[in-house]
Amino acid sequence: MESEFLLETHDLVKTFGALRAVDGLNLQVRPGEMVGLVGPDGAGKTTAMRLLCGALHATSGSIRLAGYEYPGQIEQARGEIGYLAQRFSLYGDLTVKENLDFFGEIFEIPEKERQQRSADLLRFAGLSEFAERPAAALSGGMQKKLGLACALVHQPKVLLLDEPTGGVDPVARQEFWQLLIGLLRGGSAVLVSTPYMDEAMRFNRVIFMNHGKALTQGIPRNLMARLADRILELDAEPQMEAKAIAASDPEVEDVHTFGNYLHLRVSTAEGPTTRIPARLAEAGLKLNHLYPVPPTLEDVFIHLLETEGAGYG
Ligand SMILES: Nc1ncnc2c1ncn2[C@@H]1O[C@H](COP(=O)(O)OP(=O)(O)OP(=O)(O)O)[C@@H](O)[C@H]1O
Ligand SMILES: [Mg+2]
Repeated sequence: MESEFLLETHDLVKTFGALRAVDGLNLQVRPGEMVGLVGPDGAGKTTAMRLLCGALHATSGSIRLAGYEYPGQIEQARGEIGYLAQRFSLYGDLTVKENLDFFGEIFEIPEKERQQRSADLLRFAGLSEFAERPAAALSGGMQKKLGLACALVHQPKVLLLDEPTGGVDPVARQEFWQLLIGLLRGGSAVLVSTPYMDEAMRFNRVIFMNHGKALTQGIPRNLMARLADRILELDAEPQMEAKAIAASDPEVEDVHTFGNYLHLRVSTAEGPTTRIPARLAEAGLKLNHLYPVPPTLEDVFIHLLETEGAGYG
């Protein structure tokens, strides 16, 4: 039977000696969907991506991509995979256009078609005017866009992007996401890994990953709703002392620094909202504000690490 998913894994495991870098991962991506694999350094994101693109063999579990099962049908599947590695390499001495042509040759795209496709991708990536520039002379953000264009040369159905916005400035990041939205409209399935929580809001679904496991997955809005009314923002000076006072409140479960402020996760808001200002005043600290704020995905992830994540580490 045809699956509704372009990409799915079942209990995927990859071990390196005693380390379970990917530890029973189940994920599904539909056509037109962008799913984020979000987790800290060492969570297993790159290992998962490398399993999915066929660069590594799984220890156990299964992968199905565009109707092909691994490992048996990995060769057929390759034609449907566009992979942008975390540390991908372009040929720095070759021009932008020569890099695209090179990938076109690898995928054995006929010469005539290749020219047209290179031109289309250059336009898509906003690189037409830089076609003759050596790739090494591009900015970091432009290199990422060229990397993406190279990964699209063979018109894959599934895109695997491993931390594609790492080290890229905010403007270039924004442009990069716009390019991806265009691809989703065309029915591609996109799996993106990122360590940046603020990027996770862009995904149709996020999978929070830690120690090789998916802690939870869901629509960003729904994940945040889990902590509705349970995050207070505190701005008080000096912050270190304020943090200690907040943390000692019996109804405060966690305190972490969030930009210039503190985020307190509370079991209920009422008690801490009255007690903490009084305690701060007693200690002679300056209170600027303390009020409920909408939870962020970072709040959710920290919560997950402390609860569901317990025992994994
Ligand atoms: N080839 C390998 N041999 C041994 N251990 C490995 C290998 N590749 C990855 N690991 C280990 O597997 C774990 C997961 O690494 P991985 O690179 O998948 O994490 P990541 O989520 O991509 O992290 P980052 O955000 O830093 O890129 C780490 O502990 C890493 O050291
Ligand atoms: Mg990685």
